Amino acid sequence: MKISVIGTGYVGLVTGTCLAEVGNDVLCLDLDASKIRILREGGIPIHEPGLLEMVQRNVAAGRLHFTTSIEESVAFGQVQFIAVGTPPDEDGSADLQYVTAAARNIGRHMNEYKVVVDKSTVPVGTADKVREALQQELARRGVDTEFSVVSNPEFLKEGAAVEDFMRPDRVVVGADDERAVNLMRELYAPFNRNHDRLVVMDIRSAELTKYAANCMLATRISFMNELANLADKLGADIEQVRLGIGSDPRIGYHFLYPGCGYGGSCFPKDVQALIRAADSIGMPLKVLNAVEEANETQKRILLEKIKGRFGADLKGKHFALWGLAFKPNTDDMRAASSRVVIEGLWAMGATVTTYDPVAMTESRRIFGNDPRLAYADSPMDTLNNADALVIATEWKEFRAPDFEAVKAALKNPVVFDGRNMYEPARVKAHGIEYFAIGRR
Ligand SMILES: NC(=O)c1ccc[n+]([C@@H]2O[C@H](COP(=O)([O-])OP(=O)(O)OC[C@H]3O[C@@H](n4cnc5c(N)ncnc54)[C@H](O)[C@@H]3O)[C@@H](O)[C@H]2O)c1
Repeated sequence: MKISVIGTGYVGLVTGTCLAEVGNDVLCLDLDASKIRILREGGIPIHEPGLLEMVQRNVAAGRLHFTTSIEESVAFGQVQFIAVGTPPDEDGSADLQYVTAAARNIGRHMNEYKVVVDKSTVPVGTADKVREALQQELARRGVDTEFSVVSNPEFLKEGAAVEDFMRPDRVVVGADDERAVNLMRELYAPFNRNHDRLVVMDIRSAELTKYAANCMLATRISFMNELANLADKLGADIEQVRLGIGSDPRIGYHFLYPGCGYGGSCFPKDVQALIRAADSIGMPLKVLNAVEEANETQKRILLEKIKGRFGADLKGKHFALWGLAFKPNTDDMRAASSRVVIEGLWAMGATVTTYDPVAMTESRRIFGNDPRLAYADSPMDTLNNADALVIATEWKEFRAPDFEAVKAALKNPVVFDGRNMYEPARVKAHGIEYFAIGRR
């Protein structure tokens, strides 16, 4: 099949590459010429395990191409995936300007039947807007070409995106015409070999399903974070509690890890977008509002613990920070807790030296050359002259540090662990003061 992917970011590039991997001809479009240049030069603009090799393999096989030309992209694919960003608007609702611009571009140039597939996370009713934009552009040209609009939300996780796309738990397809459903079945057949993973439904339900999934996961996290804070106060150990409740199959062990708040490009904005969408029709979502509020508080939990130990005036103090990415295996720092920690420490007068295996380039892009933030070549190199160590991302390479060396390098042997990486007793046995989230 010939497929165009509009928007070559985390979702678009993974989608296009995985579809090429199973034999399709794919053209990825982005308006950001620098991304397309990197891809054409044989690199990738993001960090995603396994993606670079797959991109290179499919480019070499002649199945994967990149362009900045809208005209070329519209002419290329019978299937047109829209995978552009849907960032939060000023009030938190999803900003649909990129989605509608992509739809208009298709309408301006299409001359034969196309299936326009919305892969971006979009509020209920967006497919109608996409259809309207297409119709308006076709009418303006006096062209009467058929098209279908499909909602096909993406569930991949950054850091495991290739694996998730190649072996999806489910593929949600929202469509209202048989022709489009059949095309989507054919398109996803190679990812369906073990058992049928396609869940076909109406378009509005498909649009809501994506928000429901992310909001459910965010709810579990915020719930566990609040319980962890309570455990801290009550002298209980949240890890014991996690094991105690996770064994119930109705609850399960997944996504019950407390920490210093969820971040990333999806949960914060999707929670906000669903809240705003519900508000706009006069149906406030009480649970989700609480989920968001709890997360905002949780992102400051490390700062509160630091204040509790060192006081609110941190002038002249220096902190080591392990981890910048919002989670391991990605360089994405959108809404990362590390940013709240860095800015909070700065606000109290402190400086920071940090290390992250892949996100330091992204951090430099965000913070520029601010002299209050230095970068080290290894986790241990951050510790010299630091008053304490703070951990914001649970990278594998932080799992088993030499605690004696950590203690020796720090001015004060104090660790604030926002990701509960260690057994408290083990750390304390080295004479280190250990502050985790809900751990005894
Ligand atoms: N990142 C994730 O883990 C993830 C997972 C599931 C769903 N999603 C959803 O997928 C969508 C894309 O997310 P992302 O993280 O890939 O975003 P991203 O910011 O990494 O990529 C979006 C890309 O679209 C390009 N773009 C914008 N307008 C364009 C246009 N009119 N034509 C061509 N290109 C255009 C941008 O230049 C950018 O490169 C969002 O709605 C997001 O919520 C993201």
